[in-house]
Amino acid sequence: MGGRPFDVPIPEEPKAPFPIITEYCDIVCGFGRGSTDLGIPTANVEIEEVPPRMNLLDLGVYFGFAHLEKVDKELTHVNRKDGQKVAYNYGSHLTEENGDLDILPMVLSIGRNPFYGNDFKTIELHILHDFTDNFYGAKVKFNILGHIRQELDYTTKEALIRDINIDIEIARSTLLKKSYLKYKEELRC
Ligand SMILES: Cc1cc2nc3c(=O)[nH]c(=O)nc-3n(C[C@H](O)[C@H](O)[C@H](O)COP(=O)(O)O)c2cc1C
Repeated sequence: MGGRPFDVPIPEEPKAPFPIITEYCDIVCGFGRGSTDLGIPTANVEIEEVPPRMNLLDLGVYFGFAHLEKVDKELTHVNRKDGQKVAYNYGSHLTEENGDLDILPMVLSIGRNPFYGNDFKTIELHILHDFTDNFYGAKVKFNILGHIRQELDYTTKEALIRDINIDIEIARSTLLKKSYLKYKEELRC
């Protein structure tokens, strides 16, 4: 699967330093370009909230499982880094019926997003599930089980989207293997 020259070979089962698991982290807004510009929405978490050894990982693309949790708060508006006001719904529309609260496969970017020229590091999860809306302010607990590739710069948006879609397929197929699937249980509590 994949077969790109820069793909990191994926072992038959998670190998050290994986798995790395977080506690429940607050989902904060990035610049929203993942959904508006790329059509690939991401949930951002603060780097201070993840375990130090997750922060030591090379910049790049990883995969694992994620579990969302709603937060019992009223809708509020929060100022984004660029000054724009963003509505935080705290995941109020997430439902069991839609499978939003299941433990779900995800692909994760730890990086500086060189394509967009960010000058700071972000941790962004793209959860492989159809959500009806964003869920800023909700919480997410996740584990990282493997590394797909390093972070790259791109000259076109189409090339970035194409690679993210390959990342998604690598994550999806690897997480179906028994030796990876069993780490879903780590997130049950
Ligand atoms: C699986 C995945 C892989 C990504 N790989 C790269 C990459 O190699 N280079 C890059 O500049 N951005 C990469 N991104 C980050 C996107 O550029 C990012 O999602 C986008 O900047 C949206 O961020 P925003 O929500 O803060 O606007 C990746 C994102 C995901 C989810």
